Amino acid sequence: MNAIADMPSSASAVDTRHGSPLIEVRDLRKRFGEVEVLRGVDLEIARSEVVCIIGPSGSGKSTLLRCLAALETYDHGDVRIEGELLGYSERNGKRVRASQGEINRVRRNVGMVFQQFNLWPHMTALGNVMEALVRVRRLPHADARRRANAMLETVGLSHKGDAYPAKLSGGQQQRVAIARALAMEPHIMLFDEPTSALDPELVGEVLQVMKQLARDGMTMAVVTHEMGFAAQVADKVMFIDQGRIAVQGKPREVFHDAGQPRLRQFLQNYFDRNAFWARGPDDAEPL
Ligand SMILES: Nc1ncnc2c1ncn2[C@@H]1O[C@H](COP(=O)(O)OP(=O)(O)OP(=O)(O)O)[C@@H](O)[C@H]1O
Ligand SMILES: [Mg+2]
Repeated sequence: MNAIADMPSSASAVDTRHGSPLIEVRDLRKRFGEVEVLRGVDLEIARSEVVCIIGPSGSGKSTLLRCLAALETYDHGDVRIEGELLGYSERNGKRVRASQGEINRVRRNVGMVFQQFNLWPHMTALGNVMEALVRVRRLPHADARRRANAMLETVGLSHKGDAYPAKLSGGQQQRVAIARALAMEPHIMLFDEPTSALDPELVGEVLQVMKQLARDGMTMAVVTHEMGFAAQVADKVMFIDQGRIAVQGKPREVFHDAGQPRLRQFLQNYFDRNAFWARGPDDAEPL
């Protein structure tokens, strides 16, 4: 039995579709067996806002994004997308699990990009971008092809439409994955460590595409270890620790005025790892 089914509804059914926030999360809780992985997350993402989510491994970052995209169910709280409750319907003040069709309808404007690009190996780049347009959006083939080509151009890959994923670099594959998500005309894009599976010299080309999206006004939530990207692009940075948002604020506040001990420790580890490069190899401490 699903524990949430008998849970009273906490939020009013006010339709905020035309105002912000685009995503609103209240007291989100999620457990895997005995382990509570999300322990009361509250957050808001406004239209055109770029939110970067940082935090230690296992703190719940991916689980949070997956809950926002309805790739995971949640046990408690509200996830609202453009004012609409995701995953559940409210009837007479009680919650019932929404049908798959209803879930798909509420999340139709949420795009997601994963660490491991997840492209179909047997389809070309163009085929990968077209696939959901034809199968889910039921676009005529020619229209899907036109839109897919336009999306590949957006990510700088119009010349690679006929290439299969195995013939593309990791950075190119990830850009195809971004084009595939953009083709569905999302209102928000969720990125889960989009560059962490890439060789260092390929990270920049993917971040460049993401920066352009941000400049074009795309609403984005990005789980990342690229602190430079977060500092430069984010309107808001959230530090997740043990299933809760422990700190959030403007990049400057989070990166430079970090008073919270766990955040300081997390950032210190990051800076220590990168200090070698800042100082240069001649300055390296002996083992
Ligand atoms: N499907 C699952 N079943 C059981 N436990 C899970 C599942 N998915 C995640 N977890 C556990 O939930 C916790 C949070 O995982 P999550 O993947 O959200 O962390 P994360 O912050 O994204 O970590 P990382 O930085 O390593 O990607 C971890 O302890 C993980 O082992
Ligand atoms: Mg993760």
